[in-house]
Amino acid sequence: MGIHLQEVSFAYYIPKKRKAQIHFTLHNIGLDIASQDEFIALVGHTGSGKSTLVQLFNALLLATRGTVQIQDWFLTKNPRFPLKPIRKTVGLVFQFPEYQIFEETVEKDIMFGPKNFNLPEPASIAHEIAQIMNITPLLQKSPFNLSGGQMRKVAIAGILASKPDILVLDEPTAGLDPFAKNELLQFLKEQNEVYHKTIIIITHDMEVVSKYAHRVLVLKEGELMYDGSKEDLFKDDVLIEKCNLDYPEIVRMMKYLKEKLALPLDIYQYHLEDALRELQAKVGETHE
Ligand SMILES: Nc1ncnc2c1ncn2[C@@H]1O[C@H](COP(=O)(O)OP(=O)(O)O)[C@@H](O)[C@H]1O
Ligand SMILES: [Mg+2]
Repeated sequence: MGIHLQEVSFAYYIPKKRKAQIHFTLHNIGLDIASQDEFIALVGHTGSGKSTLVQLFNALLLATRGTVQIQDWFLTKNPRFPLKPIRKTVGLVFQFPEYQIFEETVEKDIMFGPKNFNLPEPASIAHEIAQIMNITPLLQKSPFNLSGGQMRKVAIAGILASKPDILVLDEPTAGLDPFAKNELLQFLKEQNEVYHKTIIIITHDMEVVSKYAHRVLVLKEGELMYDGSKEDLFKDDVLIEKCNLDYPEIVRMMKYLKEKLALPLDIYQYHLEDALRELQAKVGETHE
């Protein structure tokens, strides 16, 4: 159960001439994602194929080669598969939220998903989610007169309201102020820990990776270069450089302190308290 990709390649355009070369955006990707309890960060340079990849997860795009399976459904052009239950299983918040907003009020927009999936009491779901996302005062407004950050919150609320098992968010913190960003991430963490949702988040922010993700996927030019823990990823200096990634702030700080203080620090710390504990332990050792 969940999302399974086997040898998946994707091209936006297939030339009509048989012998013409196909330009693939994604190359030969294999991936297994459980429908519960995962918190995955998908990272990679702009243009590496992140947004393309996640659109294969809910049949917005179909693989050119290979197999995509969501729960029990194989997403191929033939035979046709049922779109509704797939969209109910995997909720995708687009990179550009204005593309998924279309109703005349924010309230109607958030209610669209629950209505479409026949969930009971769509209005009360919309109000509950609006409260969580801190957008209750916007409910009667037109979604098209909002700021970028507000629009993003409305788009996220619209997807959350459908209560998907797997929640995919394409750069959801872009354009949010630090307070709203933190709130959203805490909310996703709770969805993951308390309600066992699988969260897949595309981000350029290594702080998000280091604080929240359990698993990291790295794309480079359409190839899956890494699939594993953040601990192993940030220890791989060659890969980090090759894929143009940053280190999290705390790891950079610990590297600096290790050099300046000449202490045998374990620099791979992801929470400030852990970094402090490591520092105290090693300073203690050298004073004994
Ligand atoms: N609709 C499209 N038609 C053709 N090419 C596209 C389309 N969308 C994206 N691409 C191309 O596919 C590649 C990967 O893009 P994208 O998946 O958006 O990367 P990322 O999200 O990592 O920045 C880029 O070269 C981009 O120009
Ligand atoms: Mg993108």
